[in-house]
Amino acid sequence: MTTTPDLQTLSDFLDSQRPHVAELDQGLDQVLTAVLAASRQISYDLQQGALAGILGSADTDNVQGEVQKKLDIIANDSLIDALKRCEPVAGMASEENDDCIANNPAGRYLVLFDPLDGSSNIDVNMSVGTIFSILPVTQTPVTKESFFQPGSRQIAAGYVLYGPATLLVLTLGNGVNVFTLDRDQGEFYLTASQLQIPADTQEFAINMSNQRHWEAPVQRYISECLAGKTGERGKDFNMRWVASMVGDVHRILSRGGIFMYPYDLKDPKKAGRLRLMYEANPMSFLIEQAGGQATTGRQRILDVQPNDLHQRIPVMLGSAVEVRLVTSYHG
Ligand code: F6P
Ligand code: MN
Repeated sequence: MTTTPDLQTLSDFLDSQRPHVAELDQGLDQVLTAVLAASRQISYDLQQGALAGILGSADTDNVQGEVQKKLDIIANDSLIDALKRCEPVAGMASEENDDCIANNPAGRYLVLFDPLDGSSNIDVNMSVGTIFSILPVTQTPVTKESFFQPGSRQIAAGYVLYGPATLLVLTLGNGVNVFTLDRDQGEFYLTASQLQIPADTQEFAINMSNQRHWEAPVQRYISECLAGKTGERGKDFNMRWVASMVGDVHRILSRGGIFMYPYDLKDPKKAGRLRLMYEANPMSFLIEQAGGQATTGRQRILDVQPNDLHQRIPVMLGSAVEVRLVTSYHG
């Protein structure tokens, strides 16, 4: 493949951002470089698929009782290895590990990640992703509690989407930018700048099979969407569900929409399906930075005070008009 010479590399982009982003020093560059080194490897492994012997189940459960895929473990190990070798990283926490992992006591950053989001998509050759969130160290020594900072404290967040192309979508708190991996060069190039989510949309994403378990406000919102042109909304809605949050959020960042994984009564003990610290928070940061909104239905997600690395939370995010409407139904 030939790359257009005037595309900006990620490292040139980071240099250009330094005057505008106070926290953007060489240390943060190193953290991003470590995450991307692992992501690049995951991208190559995924592309080889069955040829690399990486498909299928690992026959183990993770801390949440979910069956791990081989690639969940490979991706997790790659990220942990890369971040352990990264001096500015004081500690890390992963969906796949019960506890956090302390690293350099003099490091200034904490990194949380979902190594392979949407992993039920791996074996059917569909999109998956890596999600990451970077927080400052505010207390030493680093313990689990050091990570319990609301999402509004994130310094950077993003995801790598392994789709037909491998994309990095990144925020440093001054907008959202997209970089495409050139596989031949192993380099990420800036391919879309300052994404803005349209405030209005006619597209929703929710797992409809849980409909009977939802709370009344979500039942009402979705039934009004389904009623279409002749209902109260006066317009037809379309539905999409990738079954990988990275895929669904990427579509919303690209063309608008609302994504919901609400609390439901299927398993009333669970506060929701998605995890606050390495799914909801980084995605909410990206969505807000692109002009959208993200809520539990009752509270802005980025304001939630975490109390567990793996806590779950209801998530409704995307186009501002729709998120506001469903929030209003929660009273
Ligand atoms: O990480 C959880 C996750 O895989 C998300 O990526 C995705 O949005 C959701 O779960 C899919 O849930 P379901 O299996 O209900 O479709
Ligand atoms: Mn996930």
